[in-house]
Amino acid sequence: MTRKFFVGGNWKMNGDKKSLGELIQTLNGATVDQNVVEVVCGAPSIYLDFVRSKLDAKFGVAAQNCYKVPKGAYTGEISPVMIKDCGVHWVILGHSERRHVFGESDELIGQKTAHALENGLGVIACIGEKLDEREGGITEKVVFSQTKVIADNVKDWSKVVLAYEPVWAIGTGKTASPQQAQEVHEKLREWLKTNVSEAVANSVRIIYGGSVTGATCKELASQKDVDGFLVGGASLKPEFIDIIHAKA
Ligand code: 13P
Repeated sequence: MTRKFFVGGNWKMNGDKKSLGELIQTLNGATVDQNVVEVVCGAPSIYLDFVRSKLDAKFGVAAQNCYKVPKGAYTGEISPVMIKDCGVHWVILGHSERRHVFGESDELIGQKTAHALENGLGVIACIGEKLDEREGGITEKVVFSQTKVIADNVKDWSKVVLAYEPVWAIGTGKTASPQQAQEVHEKLREWLKTNVSEAVANSVRIIYGGSVTGATCKELASQKDVDGFLVGGASLKPEFIDIIHAKA
């Protein structure tokens, strides 16, 4: 079973039309062999339309969040229907910043996952332990329980990419070692085999996020169960192109 390498950029709440326009120009000039790698850029919601209209079709675009219903009195929220209306086909859900800065619960993330999938979006579903959880030896317990809530809400796994992002590695410059990443990815695949199916375990892309750079990406990408990356800071730099080619 070959899993196509998947590289997501998560621009978070960064950039403006000028700087994102420049980044897009740089990205559009890159060679992307779509047989080898799938690349998706997560843009701030207010720029989704702008980014989709400027970014070359060889790149997918993702929203960084969405709500669990199509429309209504939910001030400040956006729905999968609206995301698709902007020509955007992916959404990042369950990011640790949504969980820990904005207090999103597992339950809400599960509901959002179900709704996004039902409405035809692909979901980059994020999980990951905090530093005290890793140090307390409960990494597996945490990521398995987060994965279970997501799994309970997924019917079609072909539209899901699982992003393992240890919270202690996000924005800290402390990348998980290739061995640390591989260890958790392998355990997650085993969990999927036991709790979903062997076919899903073999086909789902499990990507790593947390301080991935041009310098660290190749060794991480060489790990058996690391099927790509979700990149924050480095996705705003030309270095992102090196990460896209990590597997080449
Ligand atoms: P950094 O690459 O900046 O650590 O961010 C990772 C991340 O949160 C991607 O979603």
